[in-house]
Amino acid sequence: MDTIFKFPRGTIRQGGMGFGISTPLVAKTVALLGGYGTVTGVIGDRFLAMVLQQGDPTGEYRRALSHFPFPSIAKMVIDAFYIPVGNPEGVQIRGIPMFTLDPSRLLIALTICANFALVWLAKEGHKYPIGINYLAKVAPPLLAGVTGAVLAEVDFVTVGAGIPDQIPGMMRDIVSGREASYRIPIIGENIKSHTMTFDPKRFFGEKLPSDLKLPDFLPIVSSNLLATILMNDLPKGSVQGFVIEGEPAGGHNAPPRTPGVDSSGAKCRVYGKKDEVDFKRIADLGLPFWIGGAYASVEGIKKALSVGAGIQVGTAFAFAEESGMNPDTRRKARAKIYRGEAHVRTHYEFSPTGFPLKIFEMEGTLSEQSVYGPLVRTCDQGALVYFYERPDGSIGSRCPAEPVEDFVERKGGKIEDTEGRGCLCNALISNTFLTNKGKPPVITSGVDVGIIRSLMKNENDSYSIADVFRFLHC
Ligand SMILES: Cc1cc2nc3c(=O)[nH]c(=O)nc-3n(C[C@H](O)[C@H](O)[C@H](O)COP(=O)(O)O)c2cc1C
Repeated sequence: MDTIFKFPRGTIRQGGMGFGISTPLVAKTVALLGGYGTVTGVIGDRFLAMVLQQGDPTGEYRRALSHFPFPSIAKMVIDAFYIPVGNPEGVQIRGIPMFTLDPSRLLIALTICANFALVWLAKEGHKYPIGINYLAKVAPPLLAGVTGAVLAEVDFVTVGAGIPDQIPGMMRDIVSGREASYRIPIIGENIKSHTMTFDPKRFFGEKLPSDLKLPDFLPIVSSNLLATILMNDLPKGSVQGFVIEGEPAGGHNAPPRTPGVDSSGAKCRVYGKKDEVDFKRIADLGLPFWIGGAYASVEGIKKALSVGAGIQVGTAFAFAEESGMNPDTRRKARAKIYRGEAHVRTHYEFSPTGFPLKIFEMEGTLSEQSVYGPLVRTCDQGALVYFYERPDGSIGSRCPAEPVEDFVERKGGKIEDTEGRGCLCNALISNTFLTNKGKPPVITSGVDVGIIRSLMKNENDSYSIADVFRFLHC
C-alpha cells in the first residue's frame, strides 16, 4: 500500500467508531497510510461473542486469540462462543452475558479477549501506533477492556462521552499488575457509586508480563473547561493530547450549552457561542490536539494546521469500503449522499445515554417513525444501562429504552426519561456486518458528507480509505 505523506504522520486521526464500525482493518489501513488508526472497544465483548457465534468466517479472531498470553482464558472464550460456519445442528447459540457490577469470570474473559483481539489484529504486521476508543458512559467493561488492550500493546486510548478522569490511574494500575478499580455512578438516595475492582494476578492465576507499556491517554472533549480540568486535576503527565469534538461530528455529541428557545418559543439550550472551543487556549495547554466534526476537507486540514492541530475524521471512514458498516446500508447511504439527498439530524432523545446522537435519515432504519413506532421496547444487550439503588439497598440496572412498565413501575425510573428512547445497542449492532435478526438499524454519521460526494463518480460508486487520504493530502 502506498503511504501518502504530504502532512506529518499522524496529522489525520481516525475516530474510534462504535459499535463495530472501526474494525481492525480500518485502523490498520489508516495506520499504514500515515494516520493514527483506532479500533472501537465499545461493547467489544458482544462484538467478539457475535463474531465467534457467526463462525468467525475469516478465522482472524481465532488467530488473534491463539496469540493471547493466557491460552486457557482464550480457550474458555472460544469454547463458550465459537460456532463453526453454518451452525451445525446440535450446536446451541449460547446467550451472551450482560454486564453487571459483578460480572462473571466468563464475561470478564470475553471482554479481555475481545479488546486484545481487536488491537492485536490492527497491529499485526506493522510497527505503527494503534489506539482503542471507549465511552466513559459505558463503564462496567472498562477494567477488563483496558486489560485486554494493554496485553496487545495498545499505543493510545481515546475516551469520549463523559468525564474520563479515572482512566489514567486505572491504566497505571493495570500495567503495574496491581489491583485496579473503577467507580461506577449509582442513581440513589444513599448509594452514589460502586467501585468495581480487577486484580489481574487473581484472575489469571499469575502475574501480568512485567514489560507492559502504559498507553497514551487522549480524552475526547468538547469544551475548554473539561480540557483544563483534566490537565489541572490529574497527576502531571496523565494526558498526552486531546481530541476536540465539535457538534457536527458523527456519533454522540456533547449536549448544547448555549441558552436559546425551541420552535415553540420555550427556553432551552441550543448549540451556539457557548459551545465553541477556543483552540488557542487548547494549544496553550501545551499538548498535541486534533479537531473532529466536519474537518475532513482540504480547508478543514488547513484550518486545523493553522491553530497547531491535526484532524480527527469519522464519517468519511465509516462509509468507506473497508469499514465494519453493513455493506448494503453503506451502499444505500452513499447513493443518497451522491444524489444530494443525505439528511443528518441531531436526535436529543433517542440514545439511552442521554447524549444527543447524530442520525442519518434512511428508509428501513429507526430514523423513520414507521419503523421506530411499532417496535416492541426491549433491553437484551444491556450495554447502556444505568445502575440504581433499590428500596432495599441493593443495586439494580435499568435502561430508558426498555419496556416503559419495567423501567417505571418495576424499577422506579421516571417516565419522562423513557420518551423517544430507542434500543441503540441493537440498532448499532444491526448497522454492522453482523447478523442481528429482527432488529432494525440506525445509522449515525456526521453532518458533513461533502468529501464522500467528491470521491464518488456515480451513485453506485464506492471509495476506499486510501481515496480519503489522497483527497485530504491533495
Ligand atoms: C458511525 C460513527 C460512529 C461513531 N462512534 C463513536 C464512538 O463510539 N466513540 C467516539 O468517541 N466517537 C465516535 N464517533 C465520532 C468519531 O470518532 C469522530 O470524532 C467524528 O466522526 C469526527 O467528525 P466527522 O464525523 O465529521 O468526521 C462516531 C462517528 C461516526 C460517524
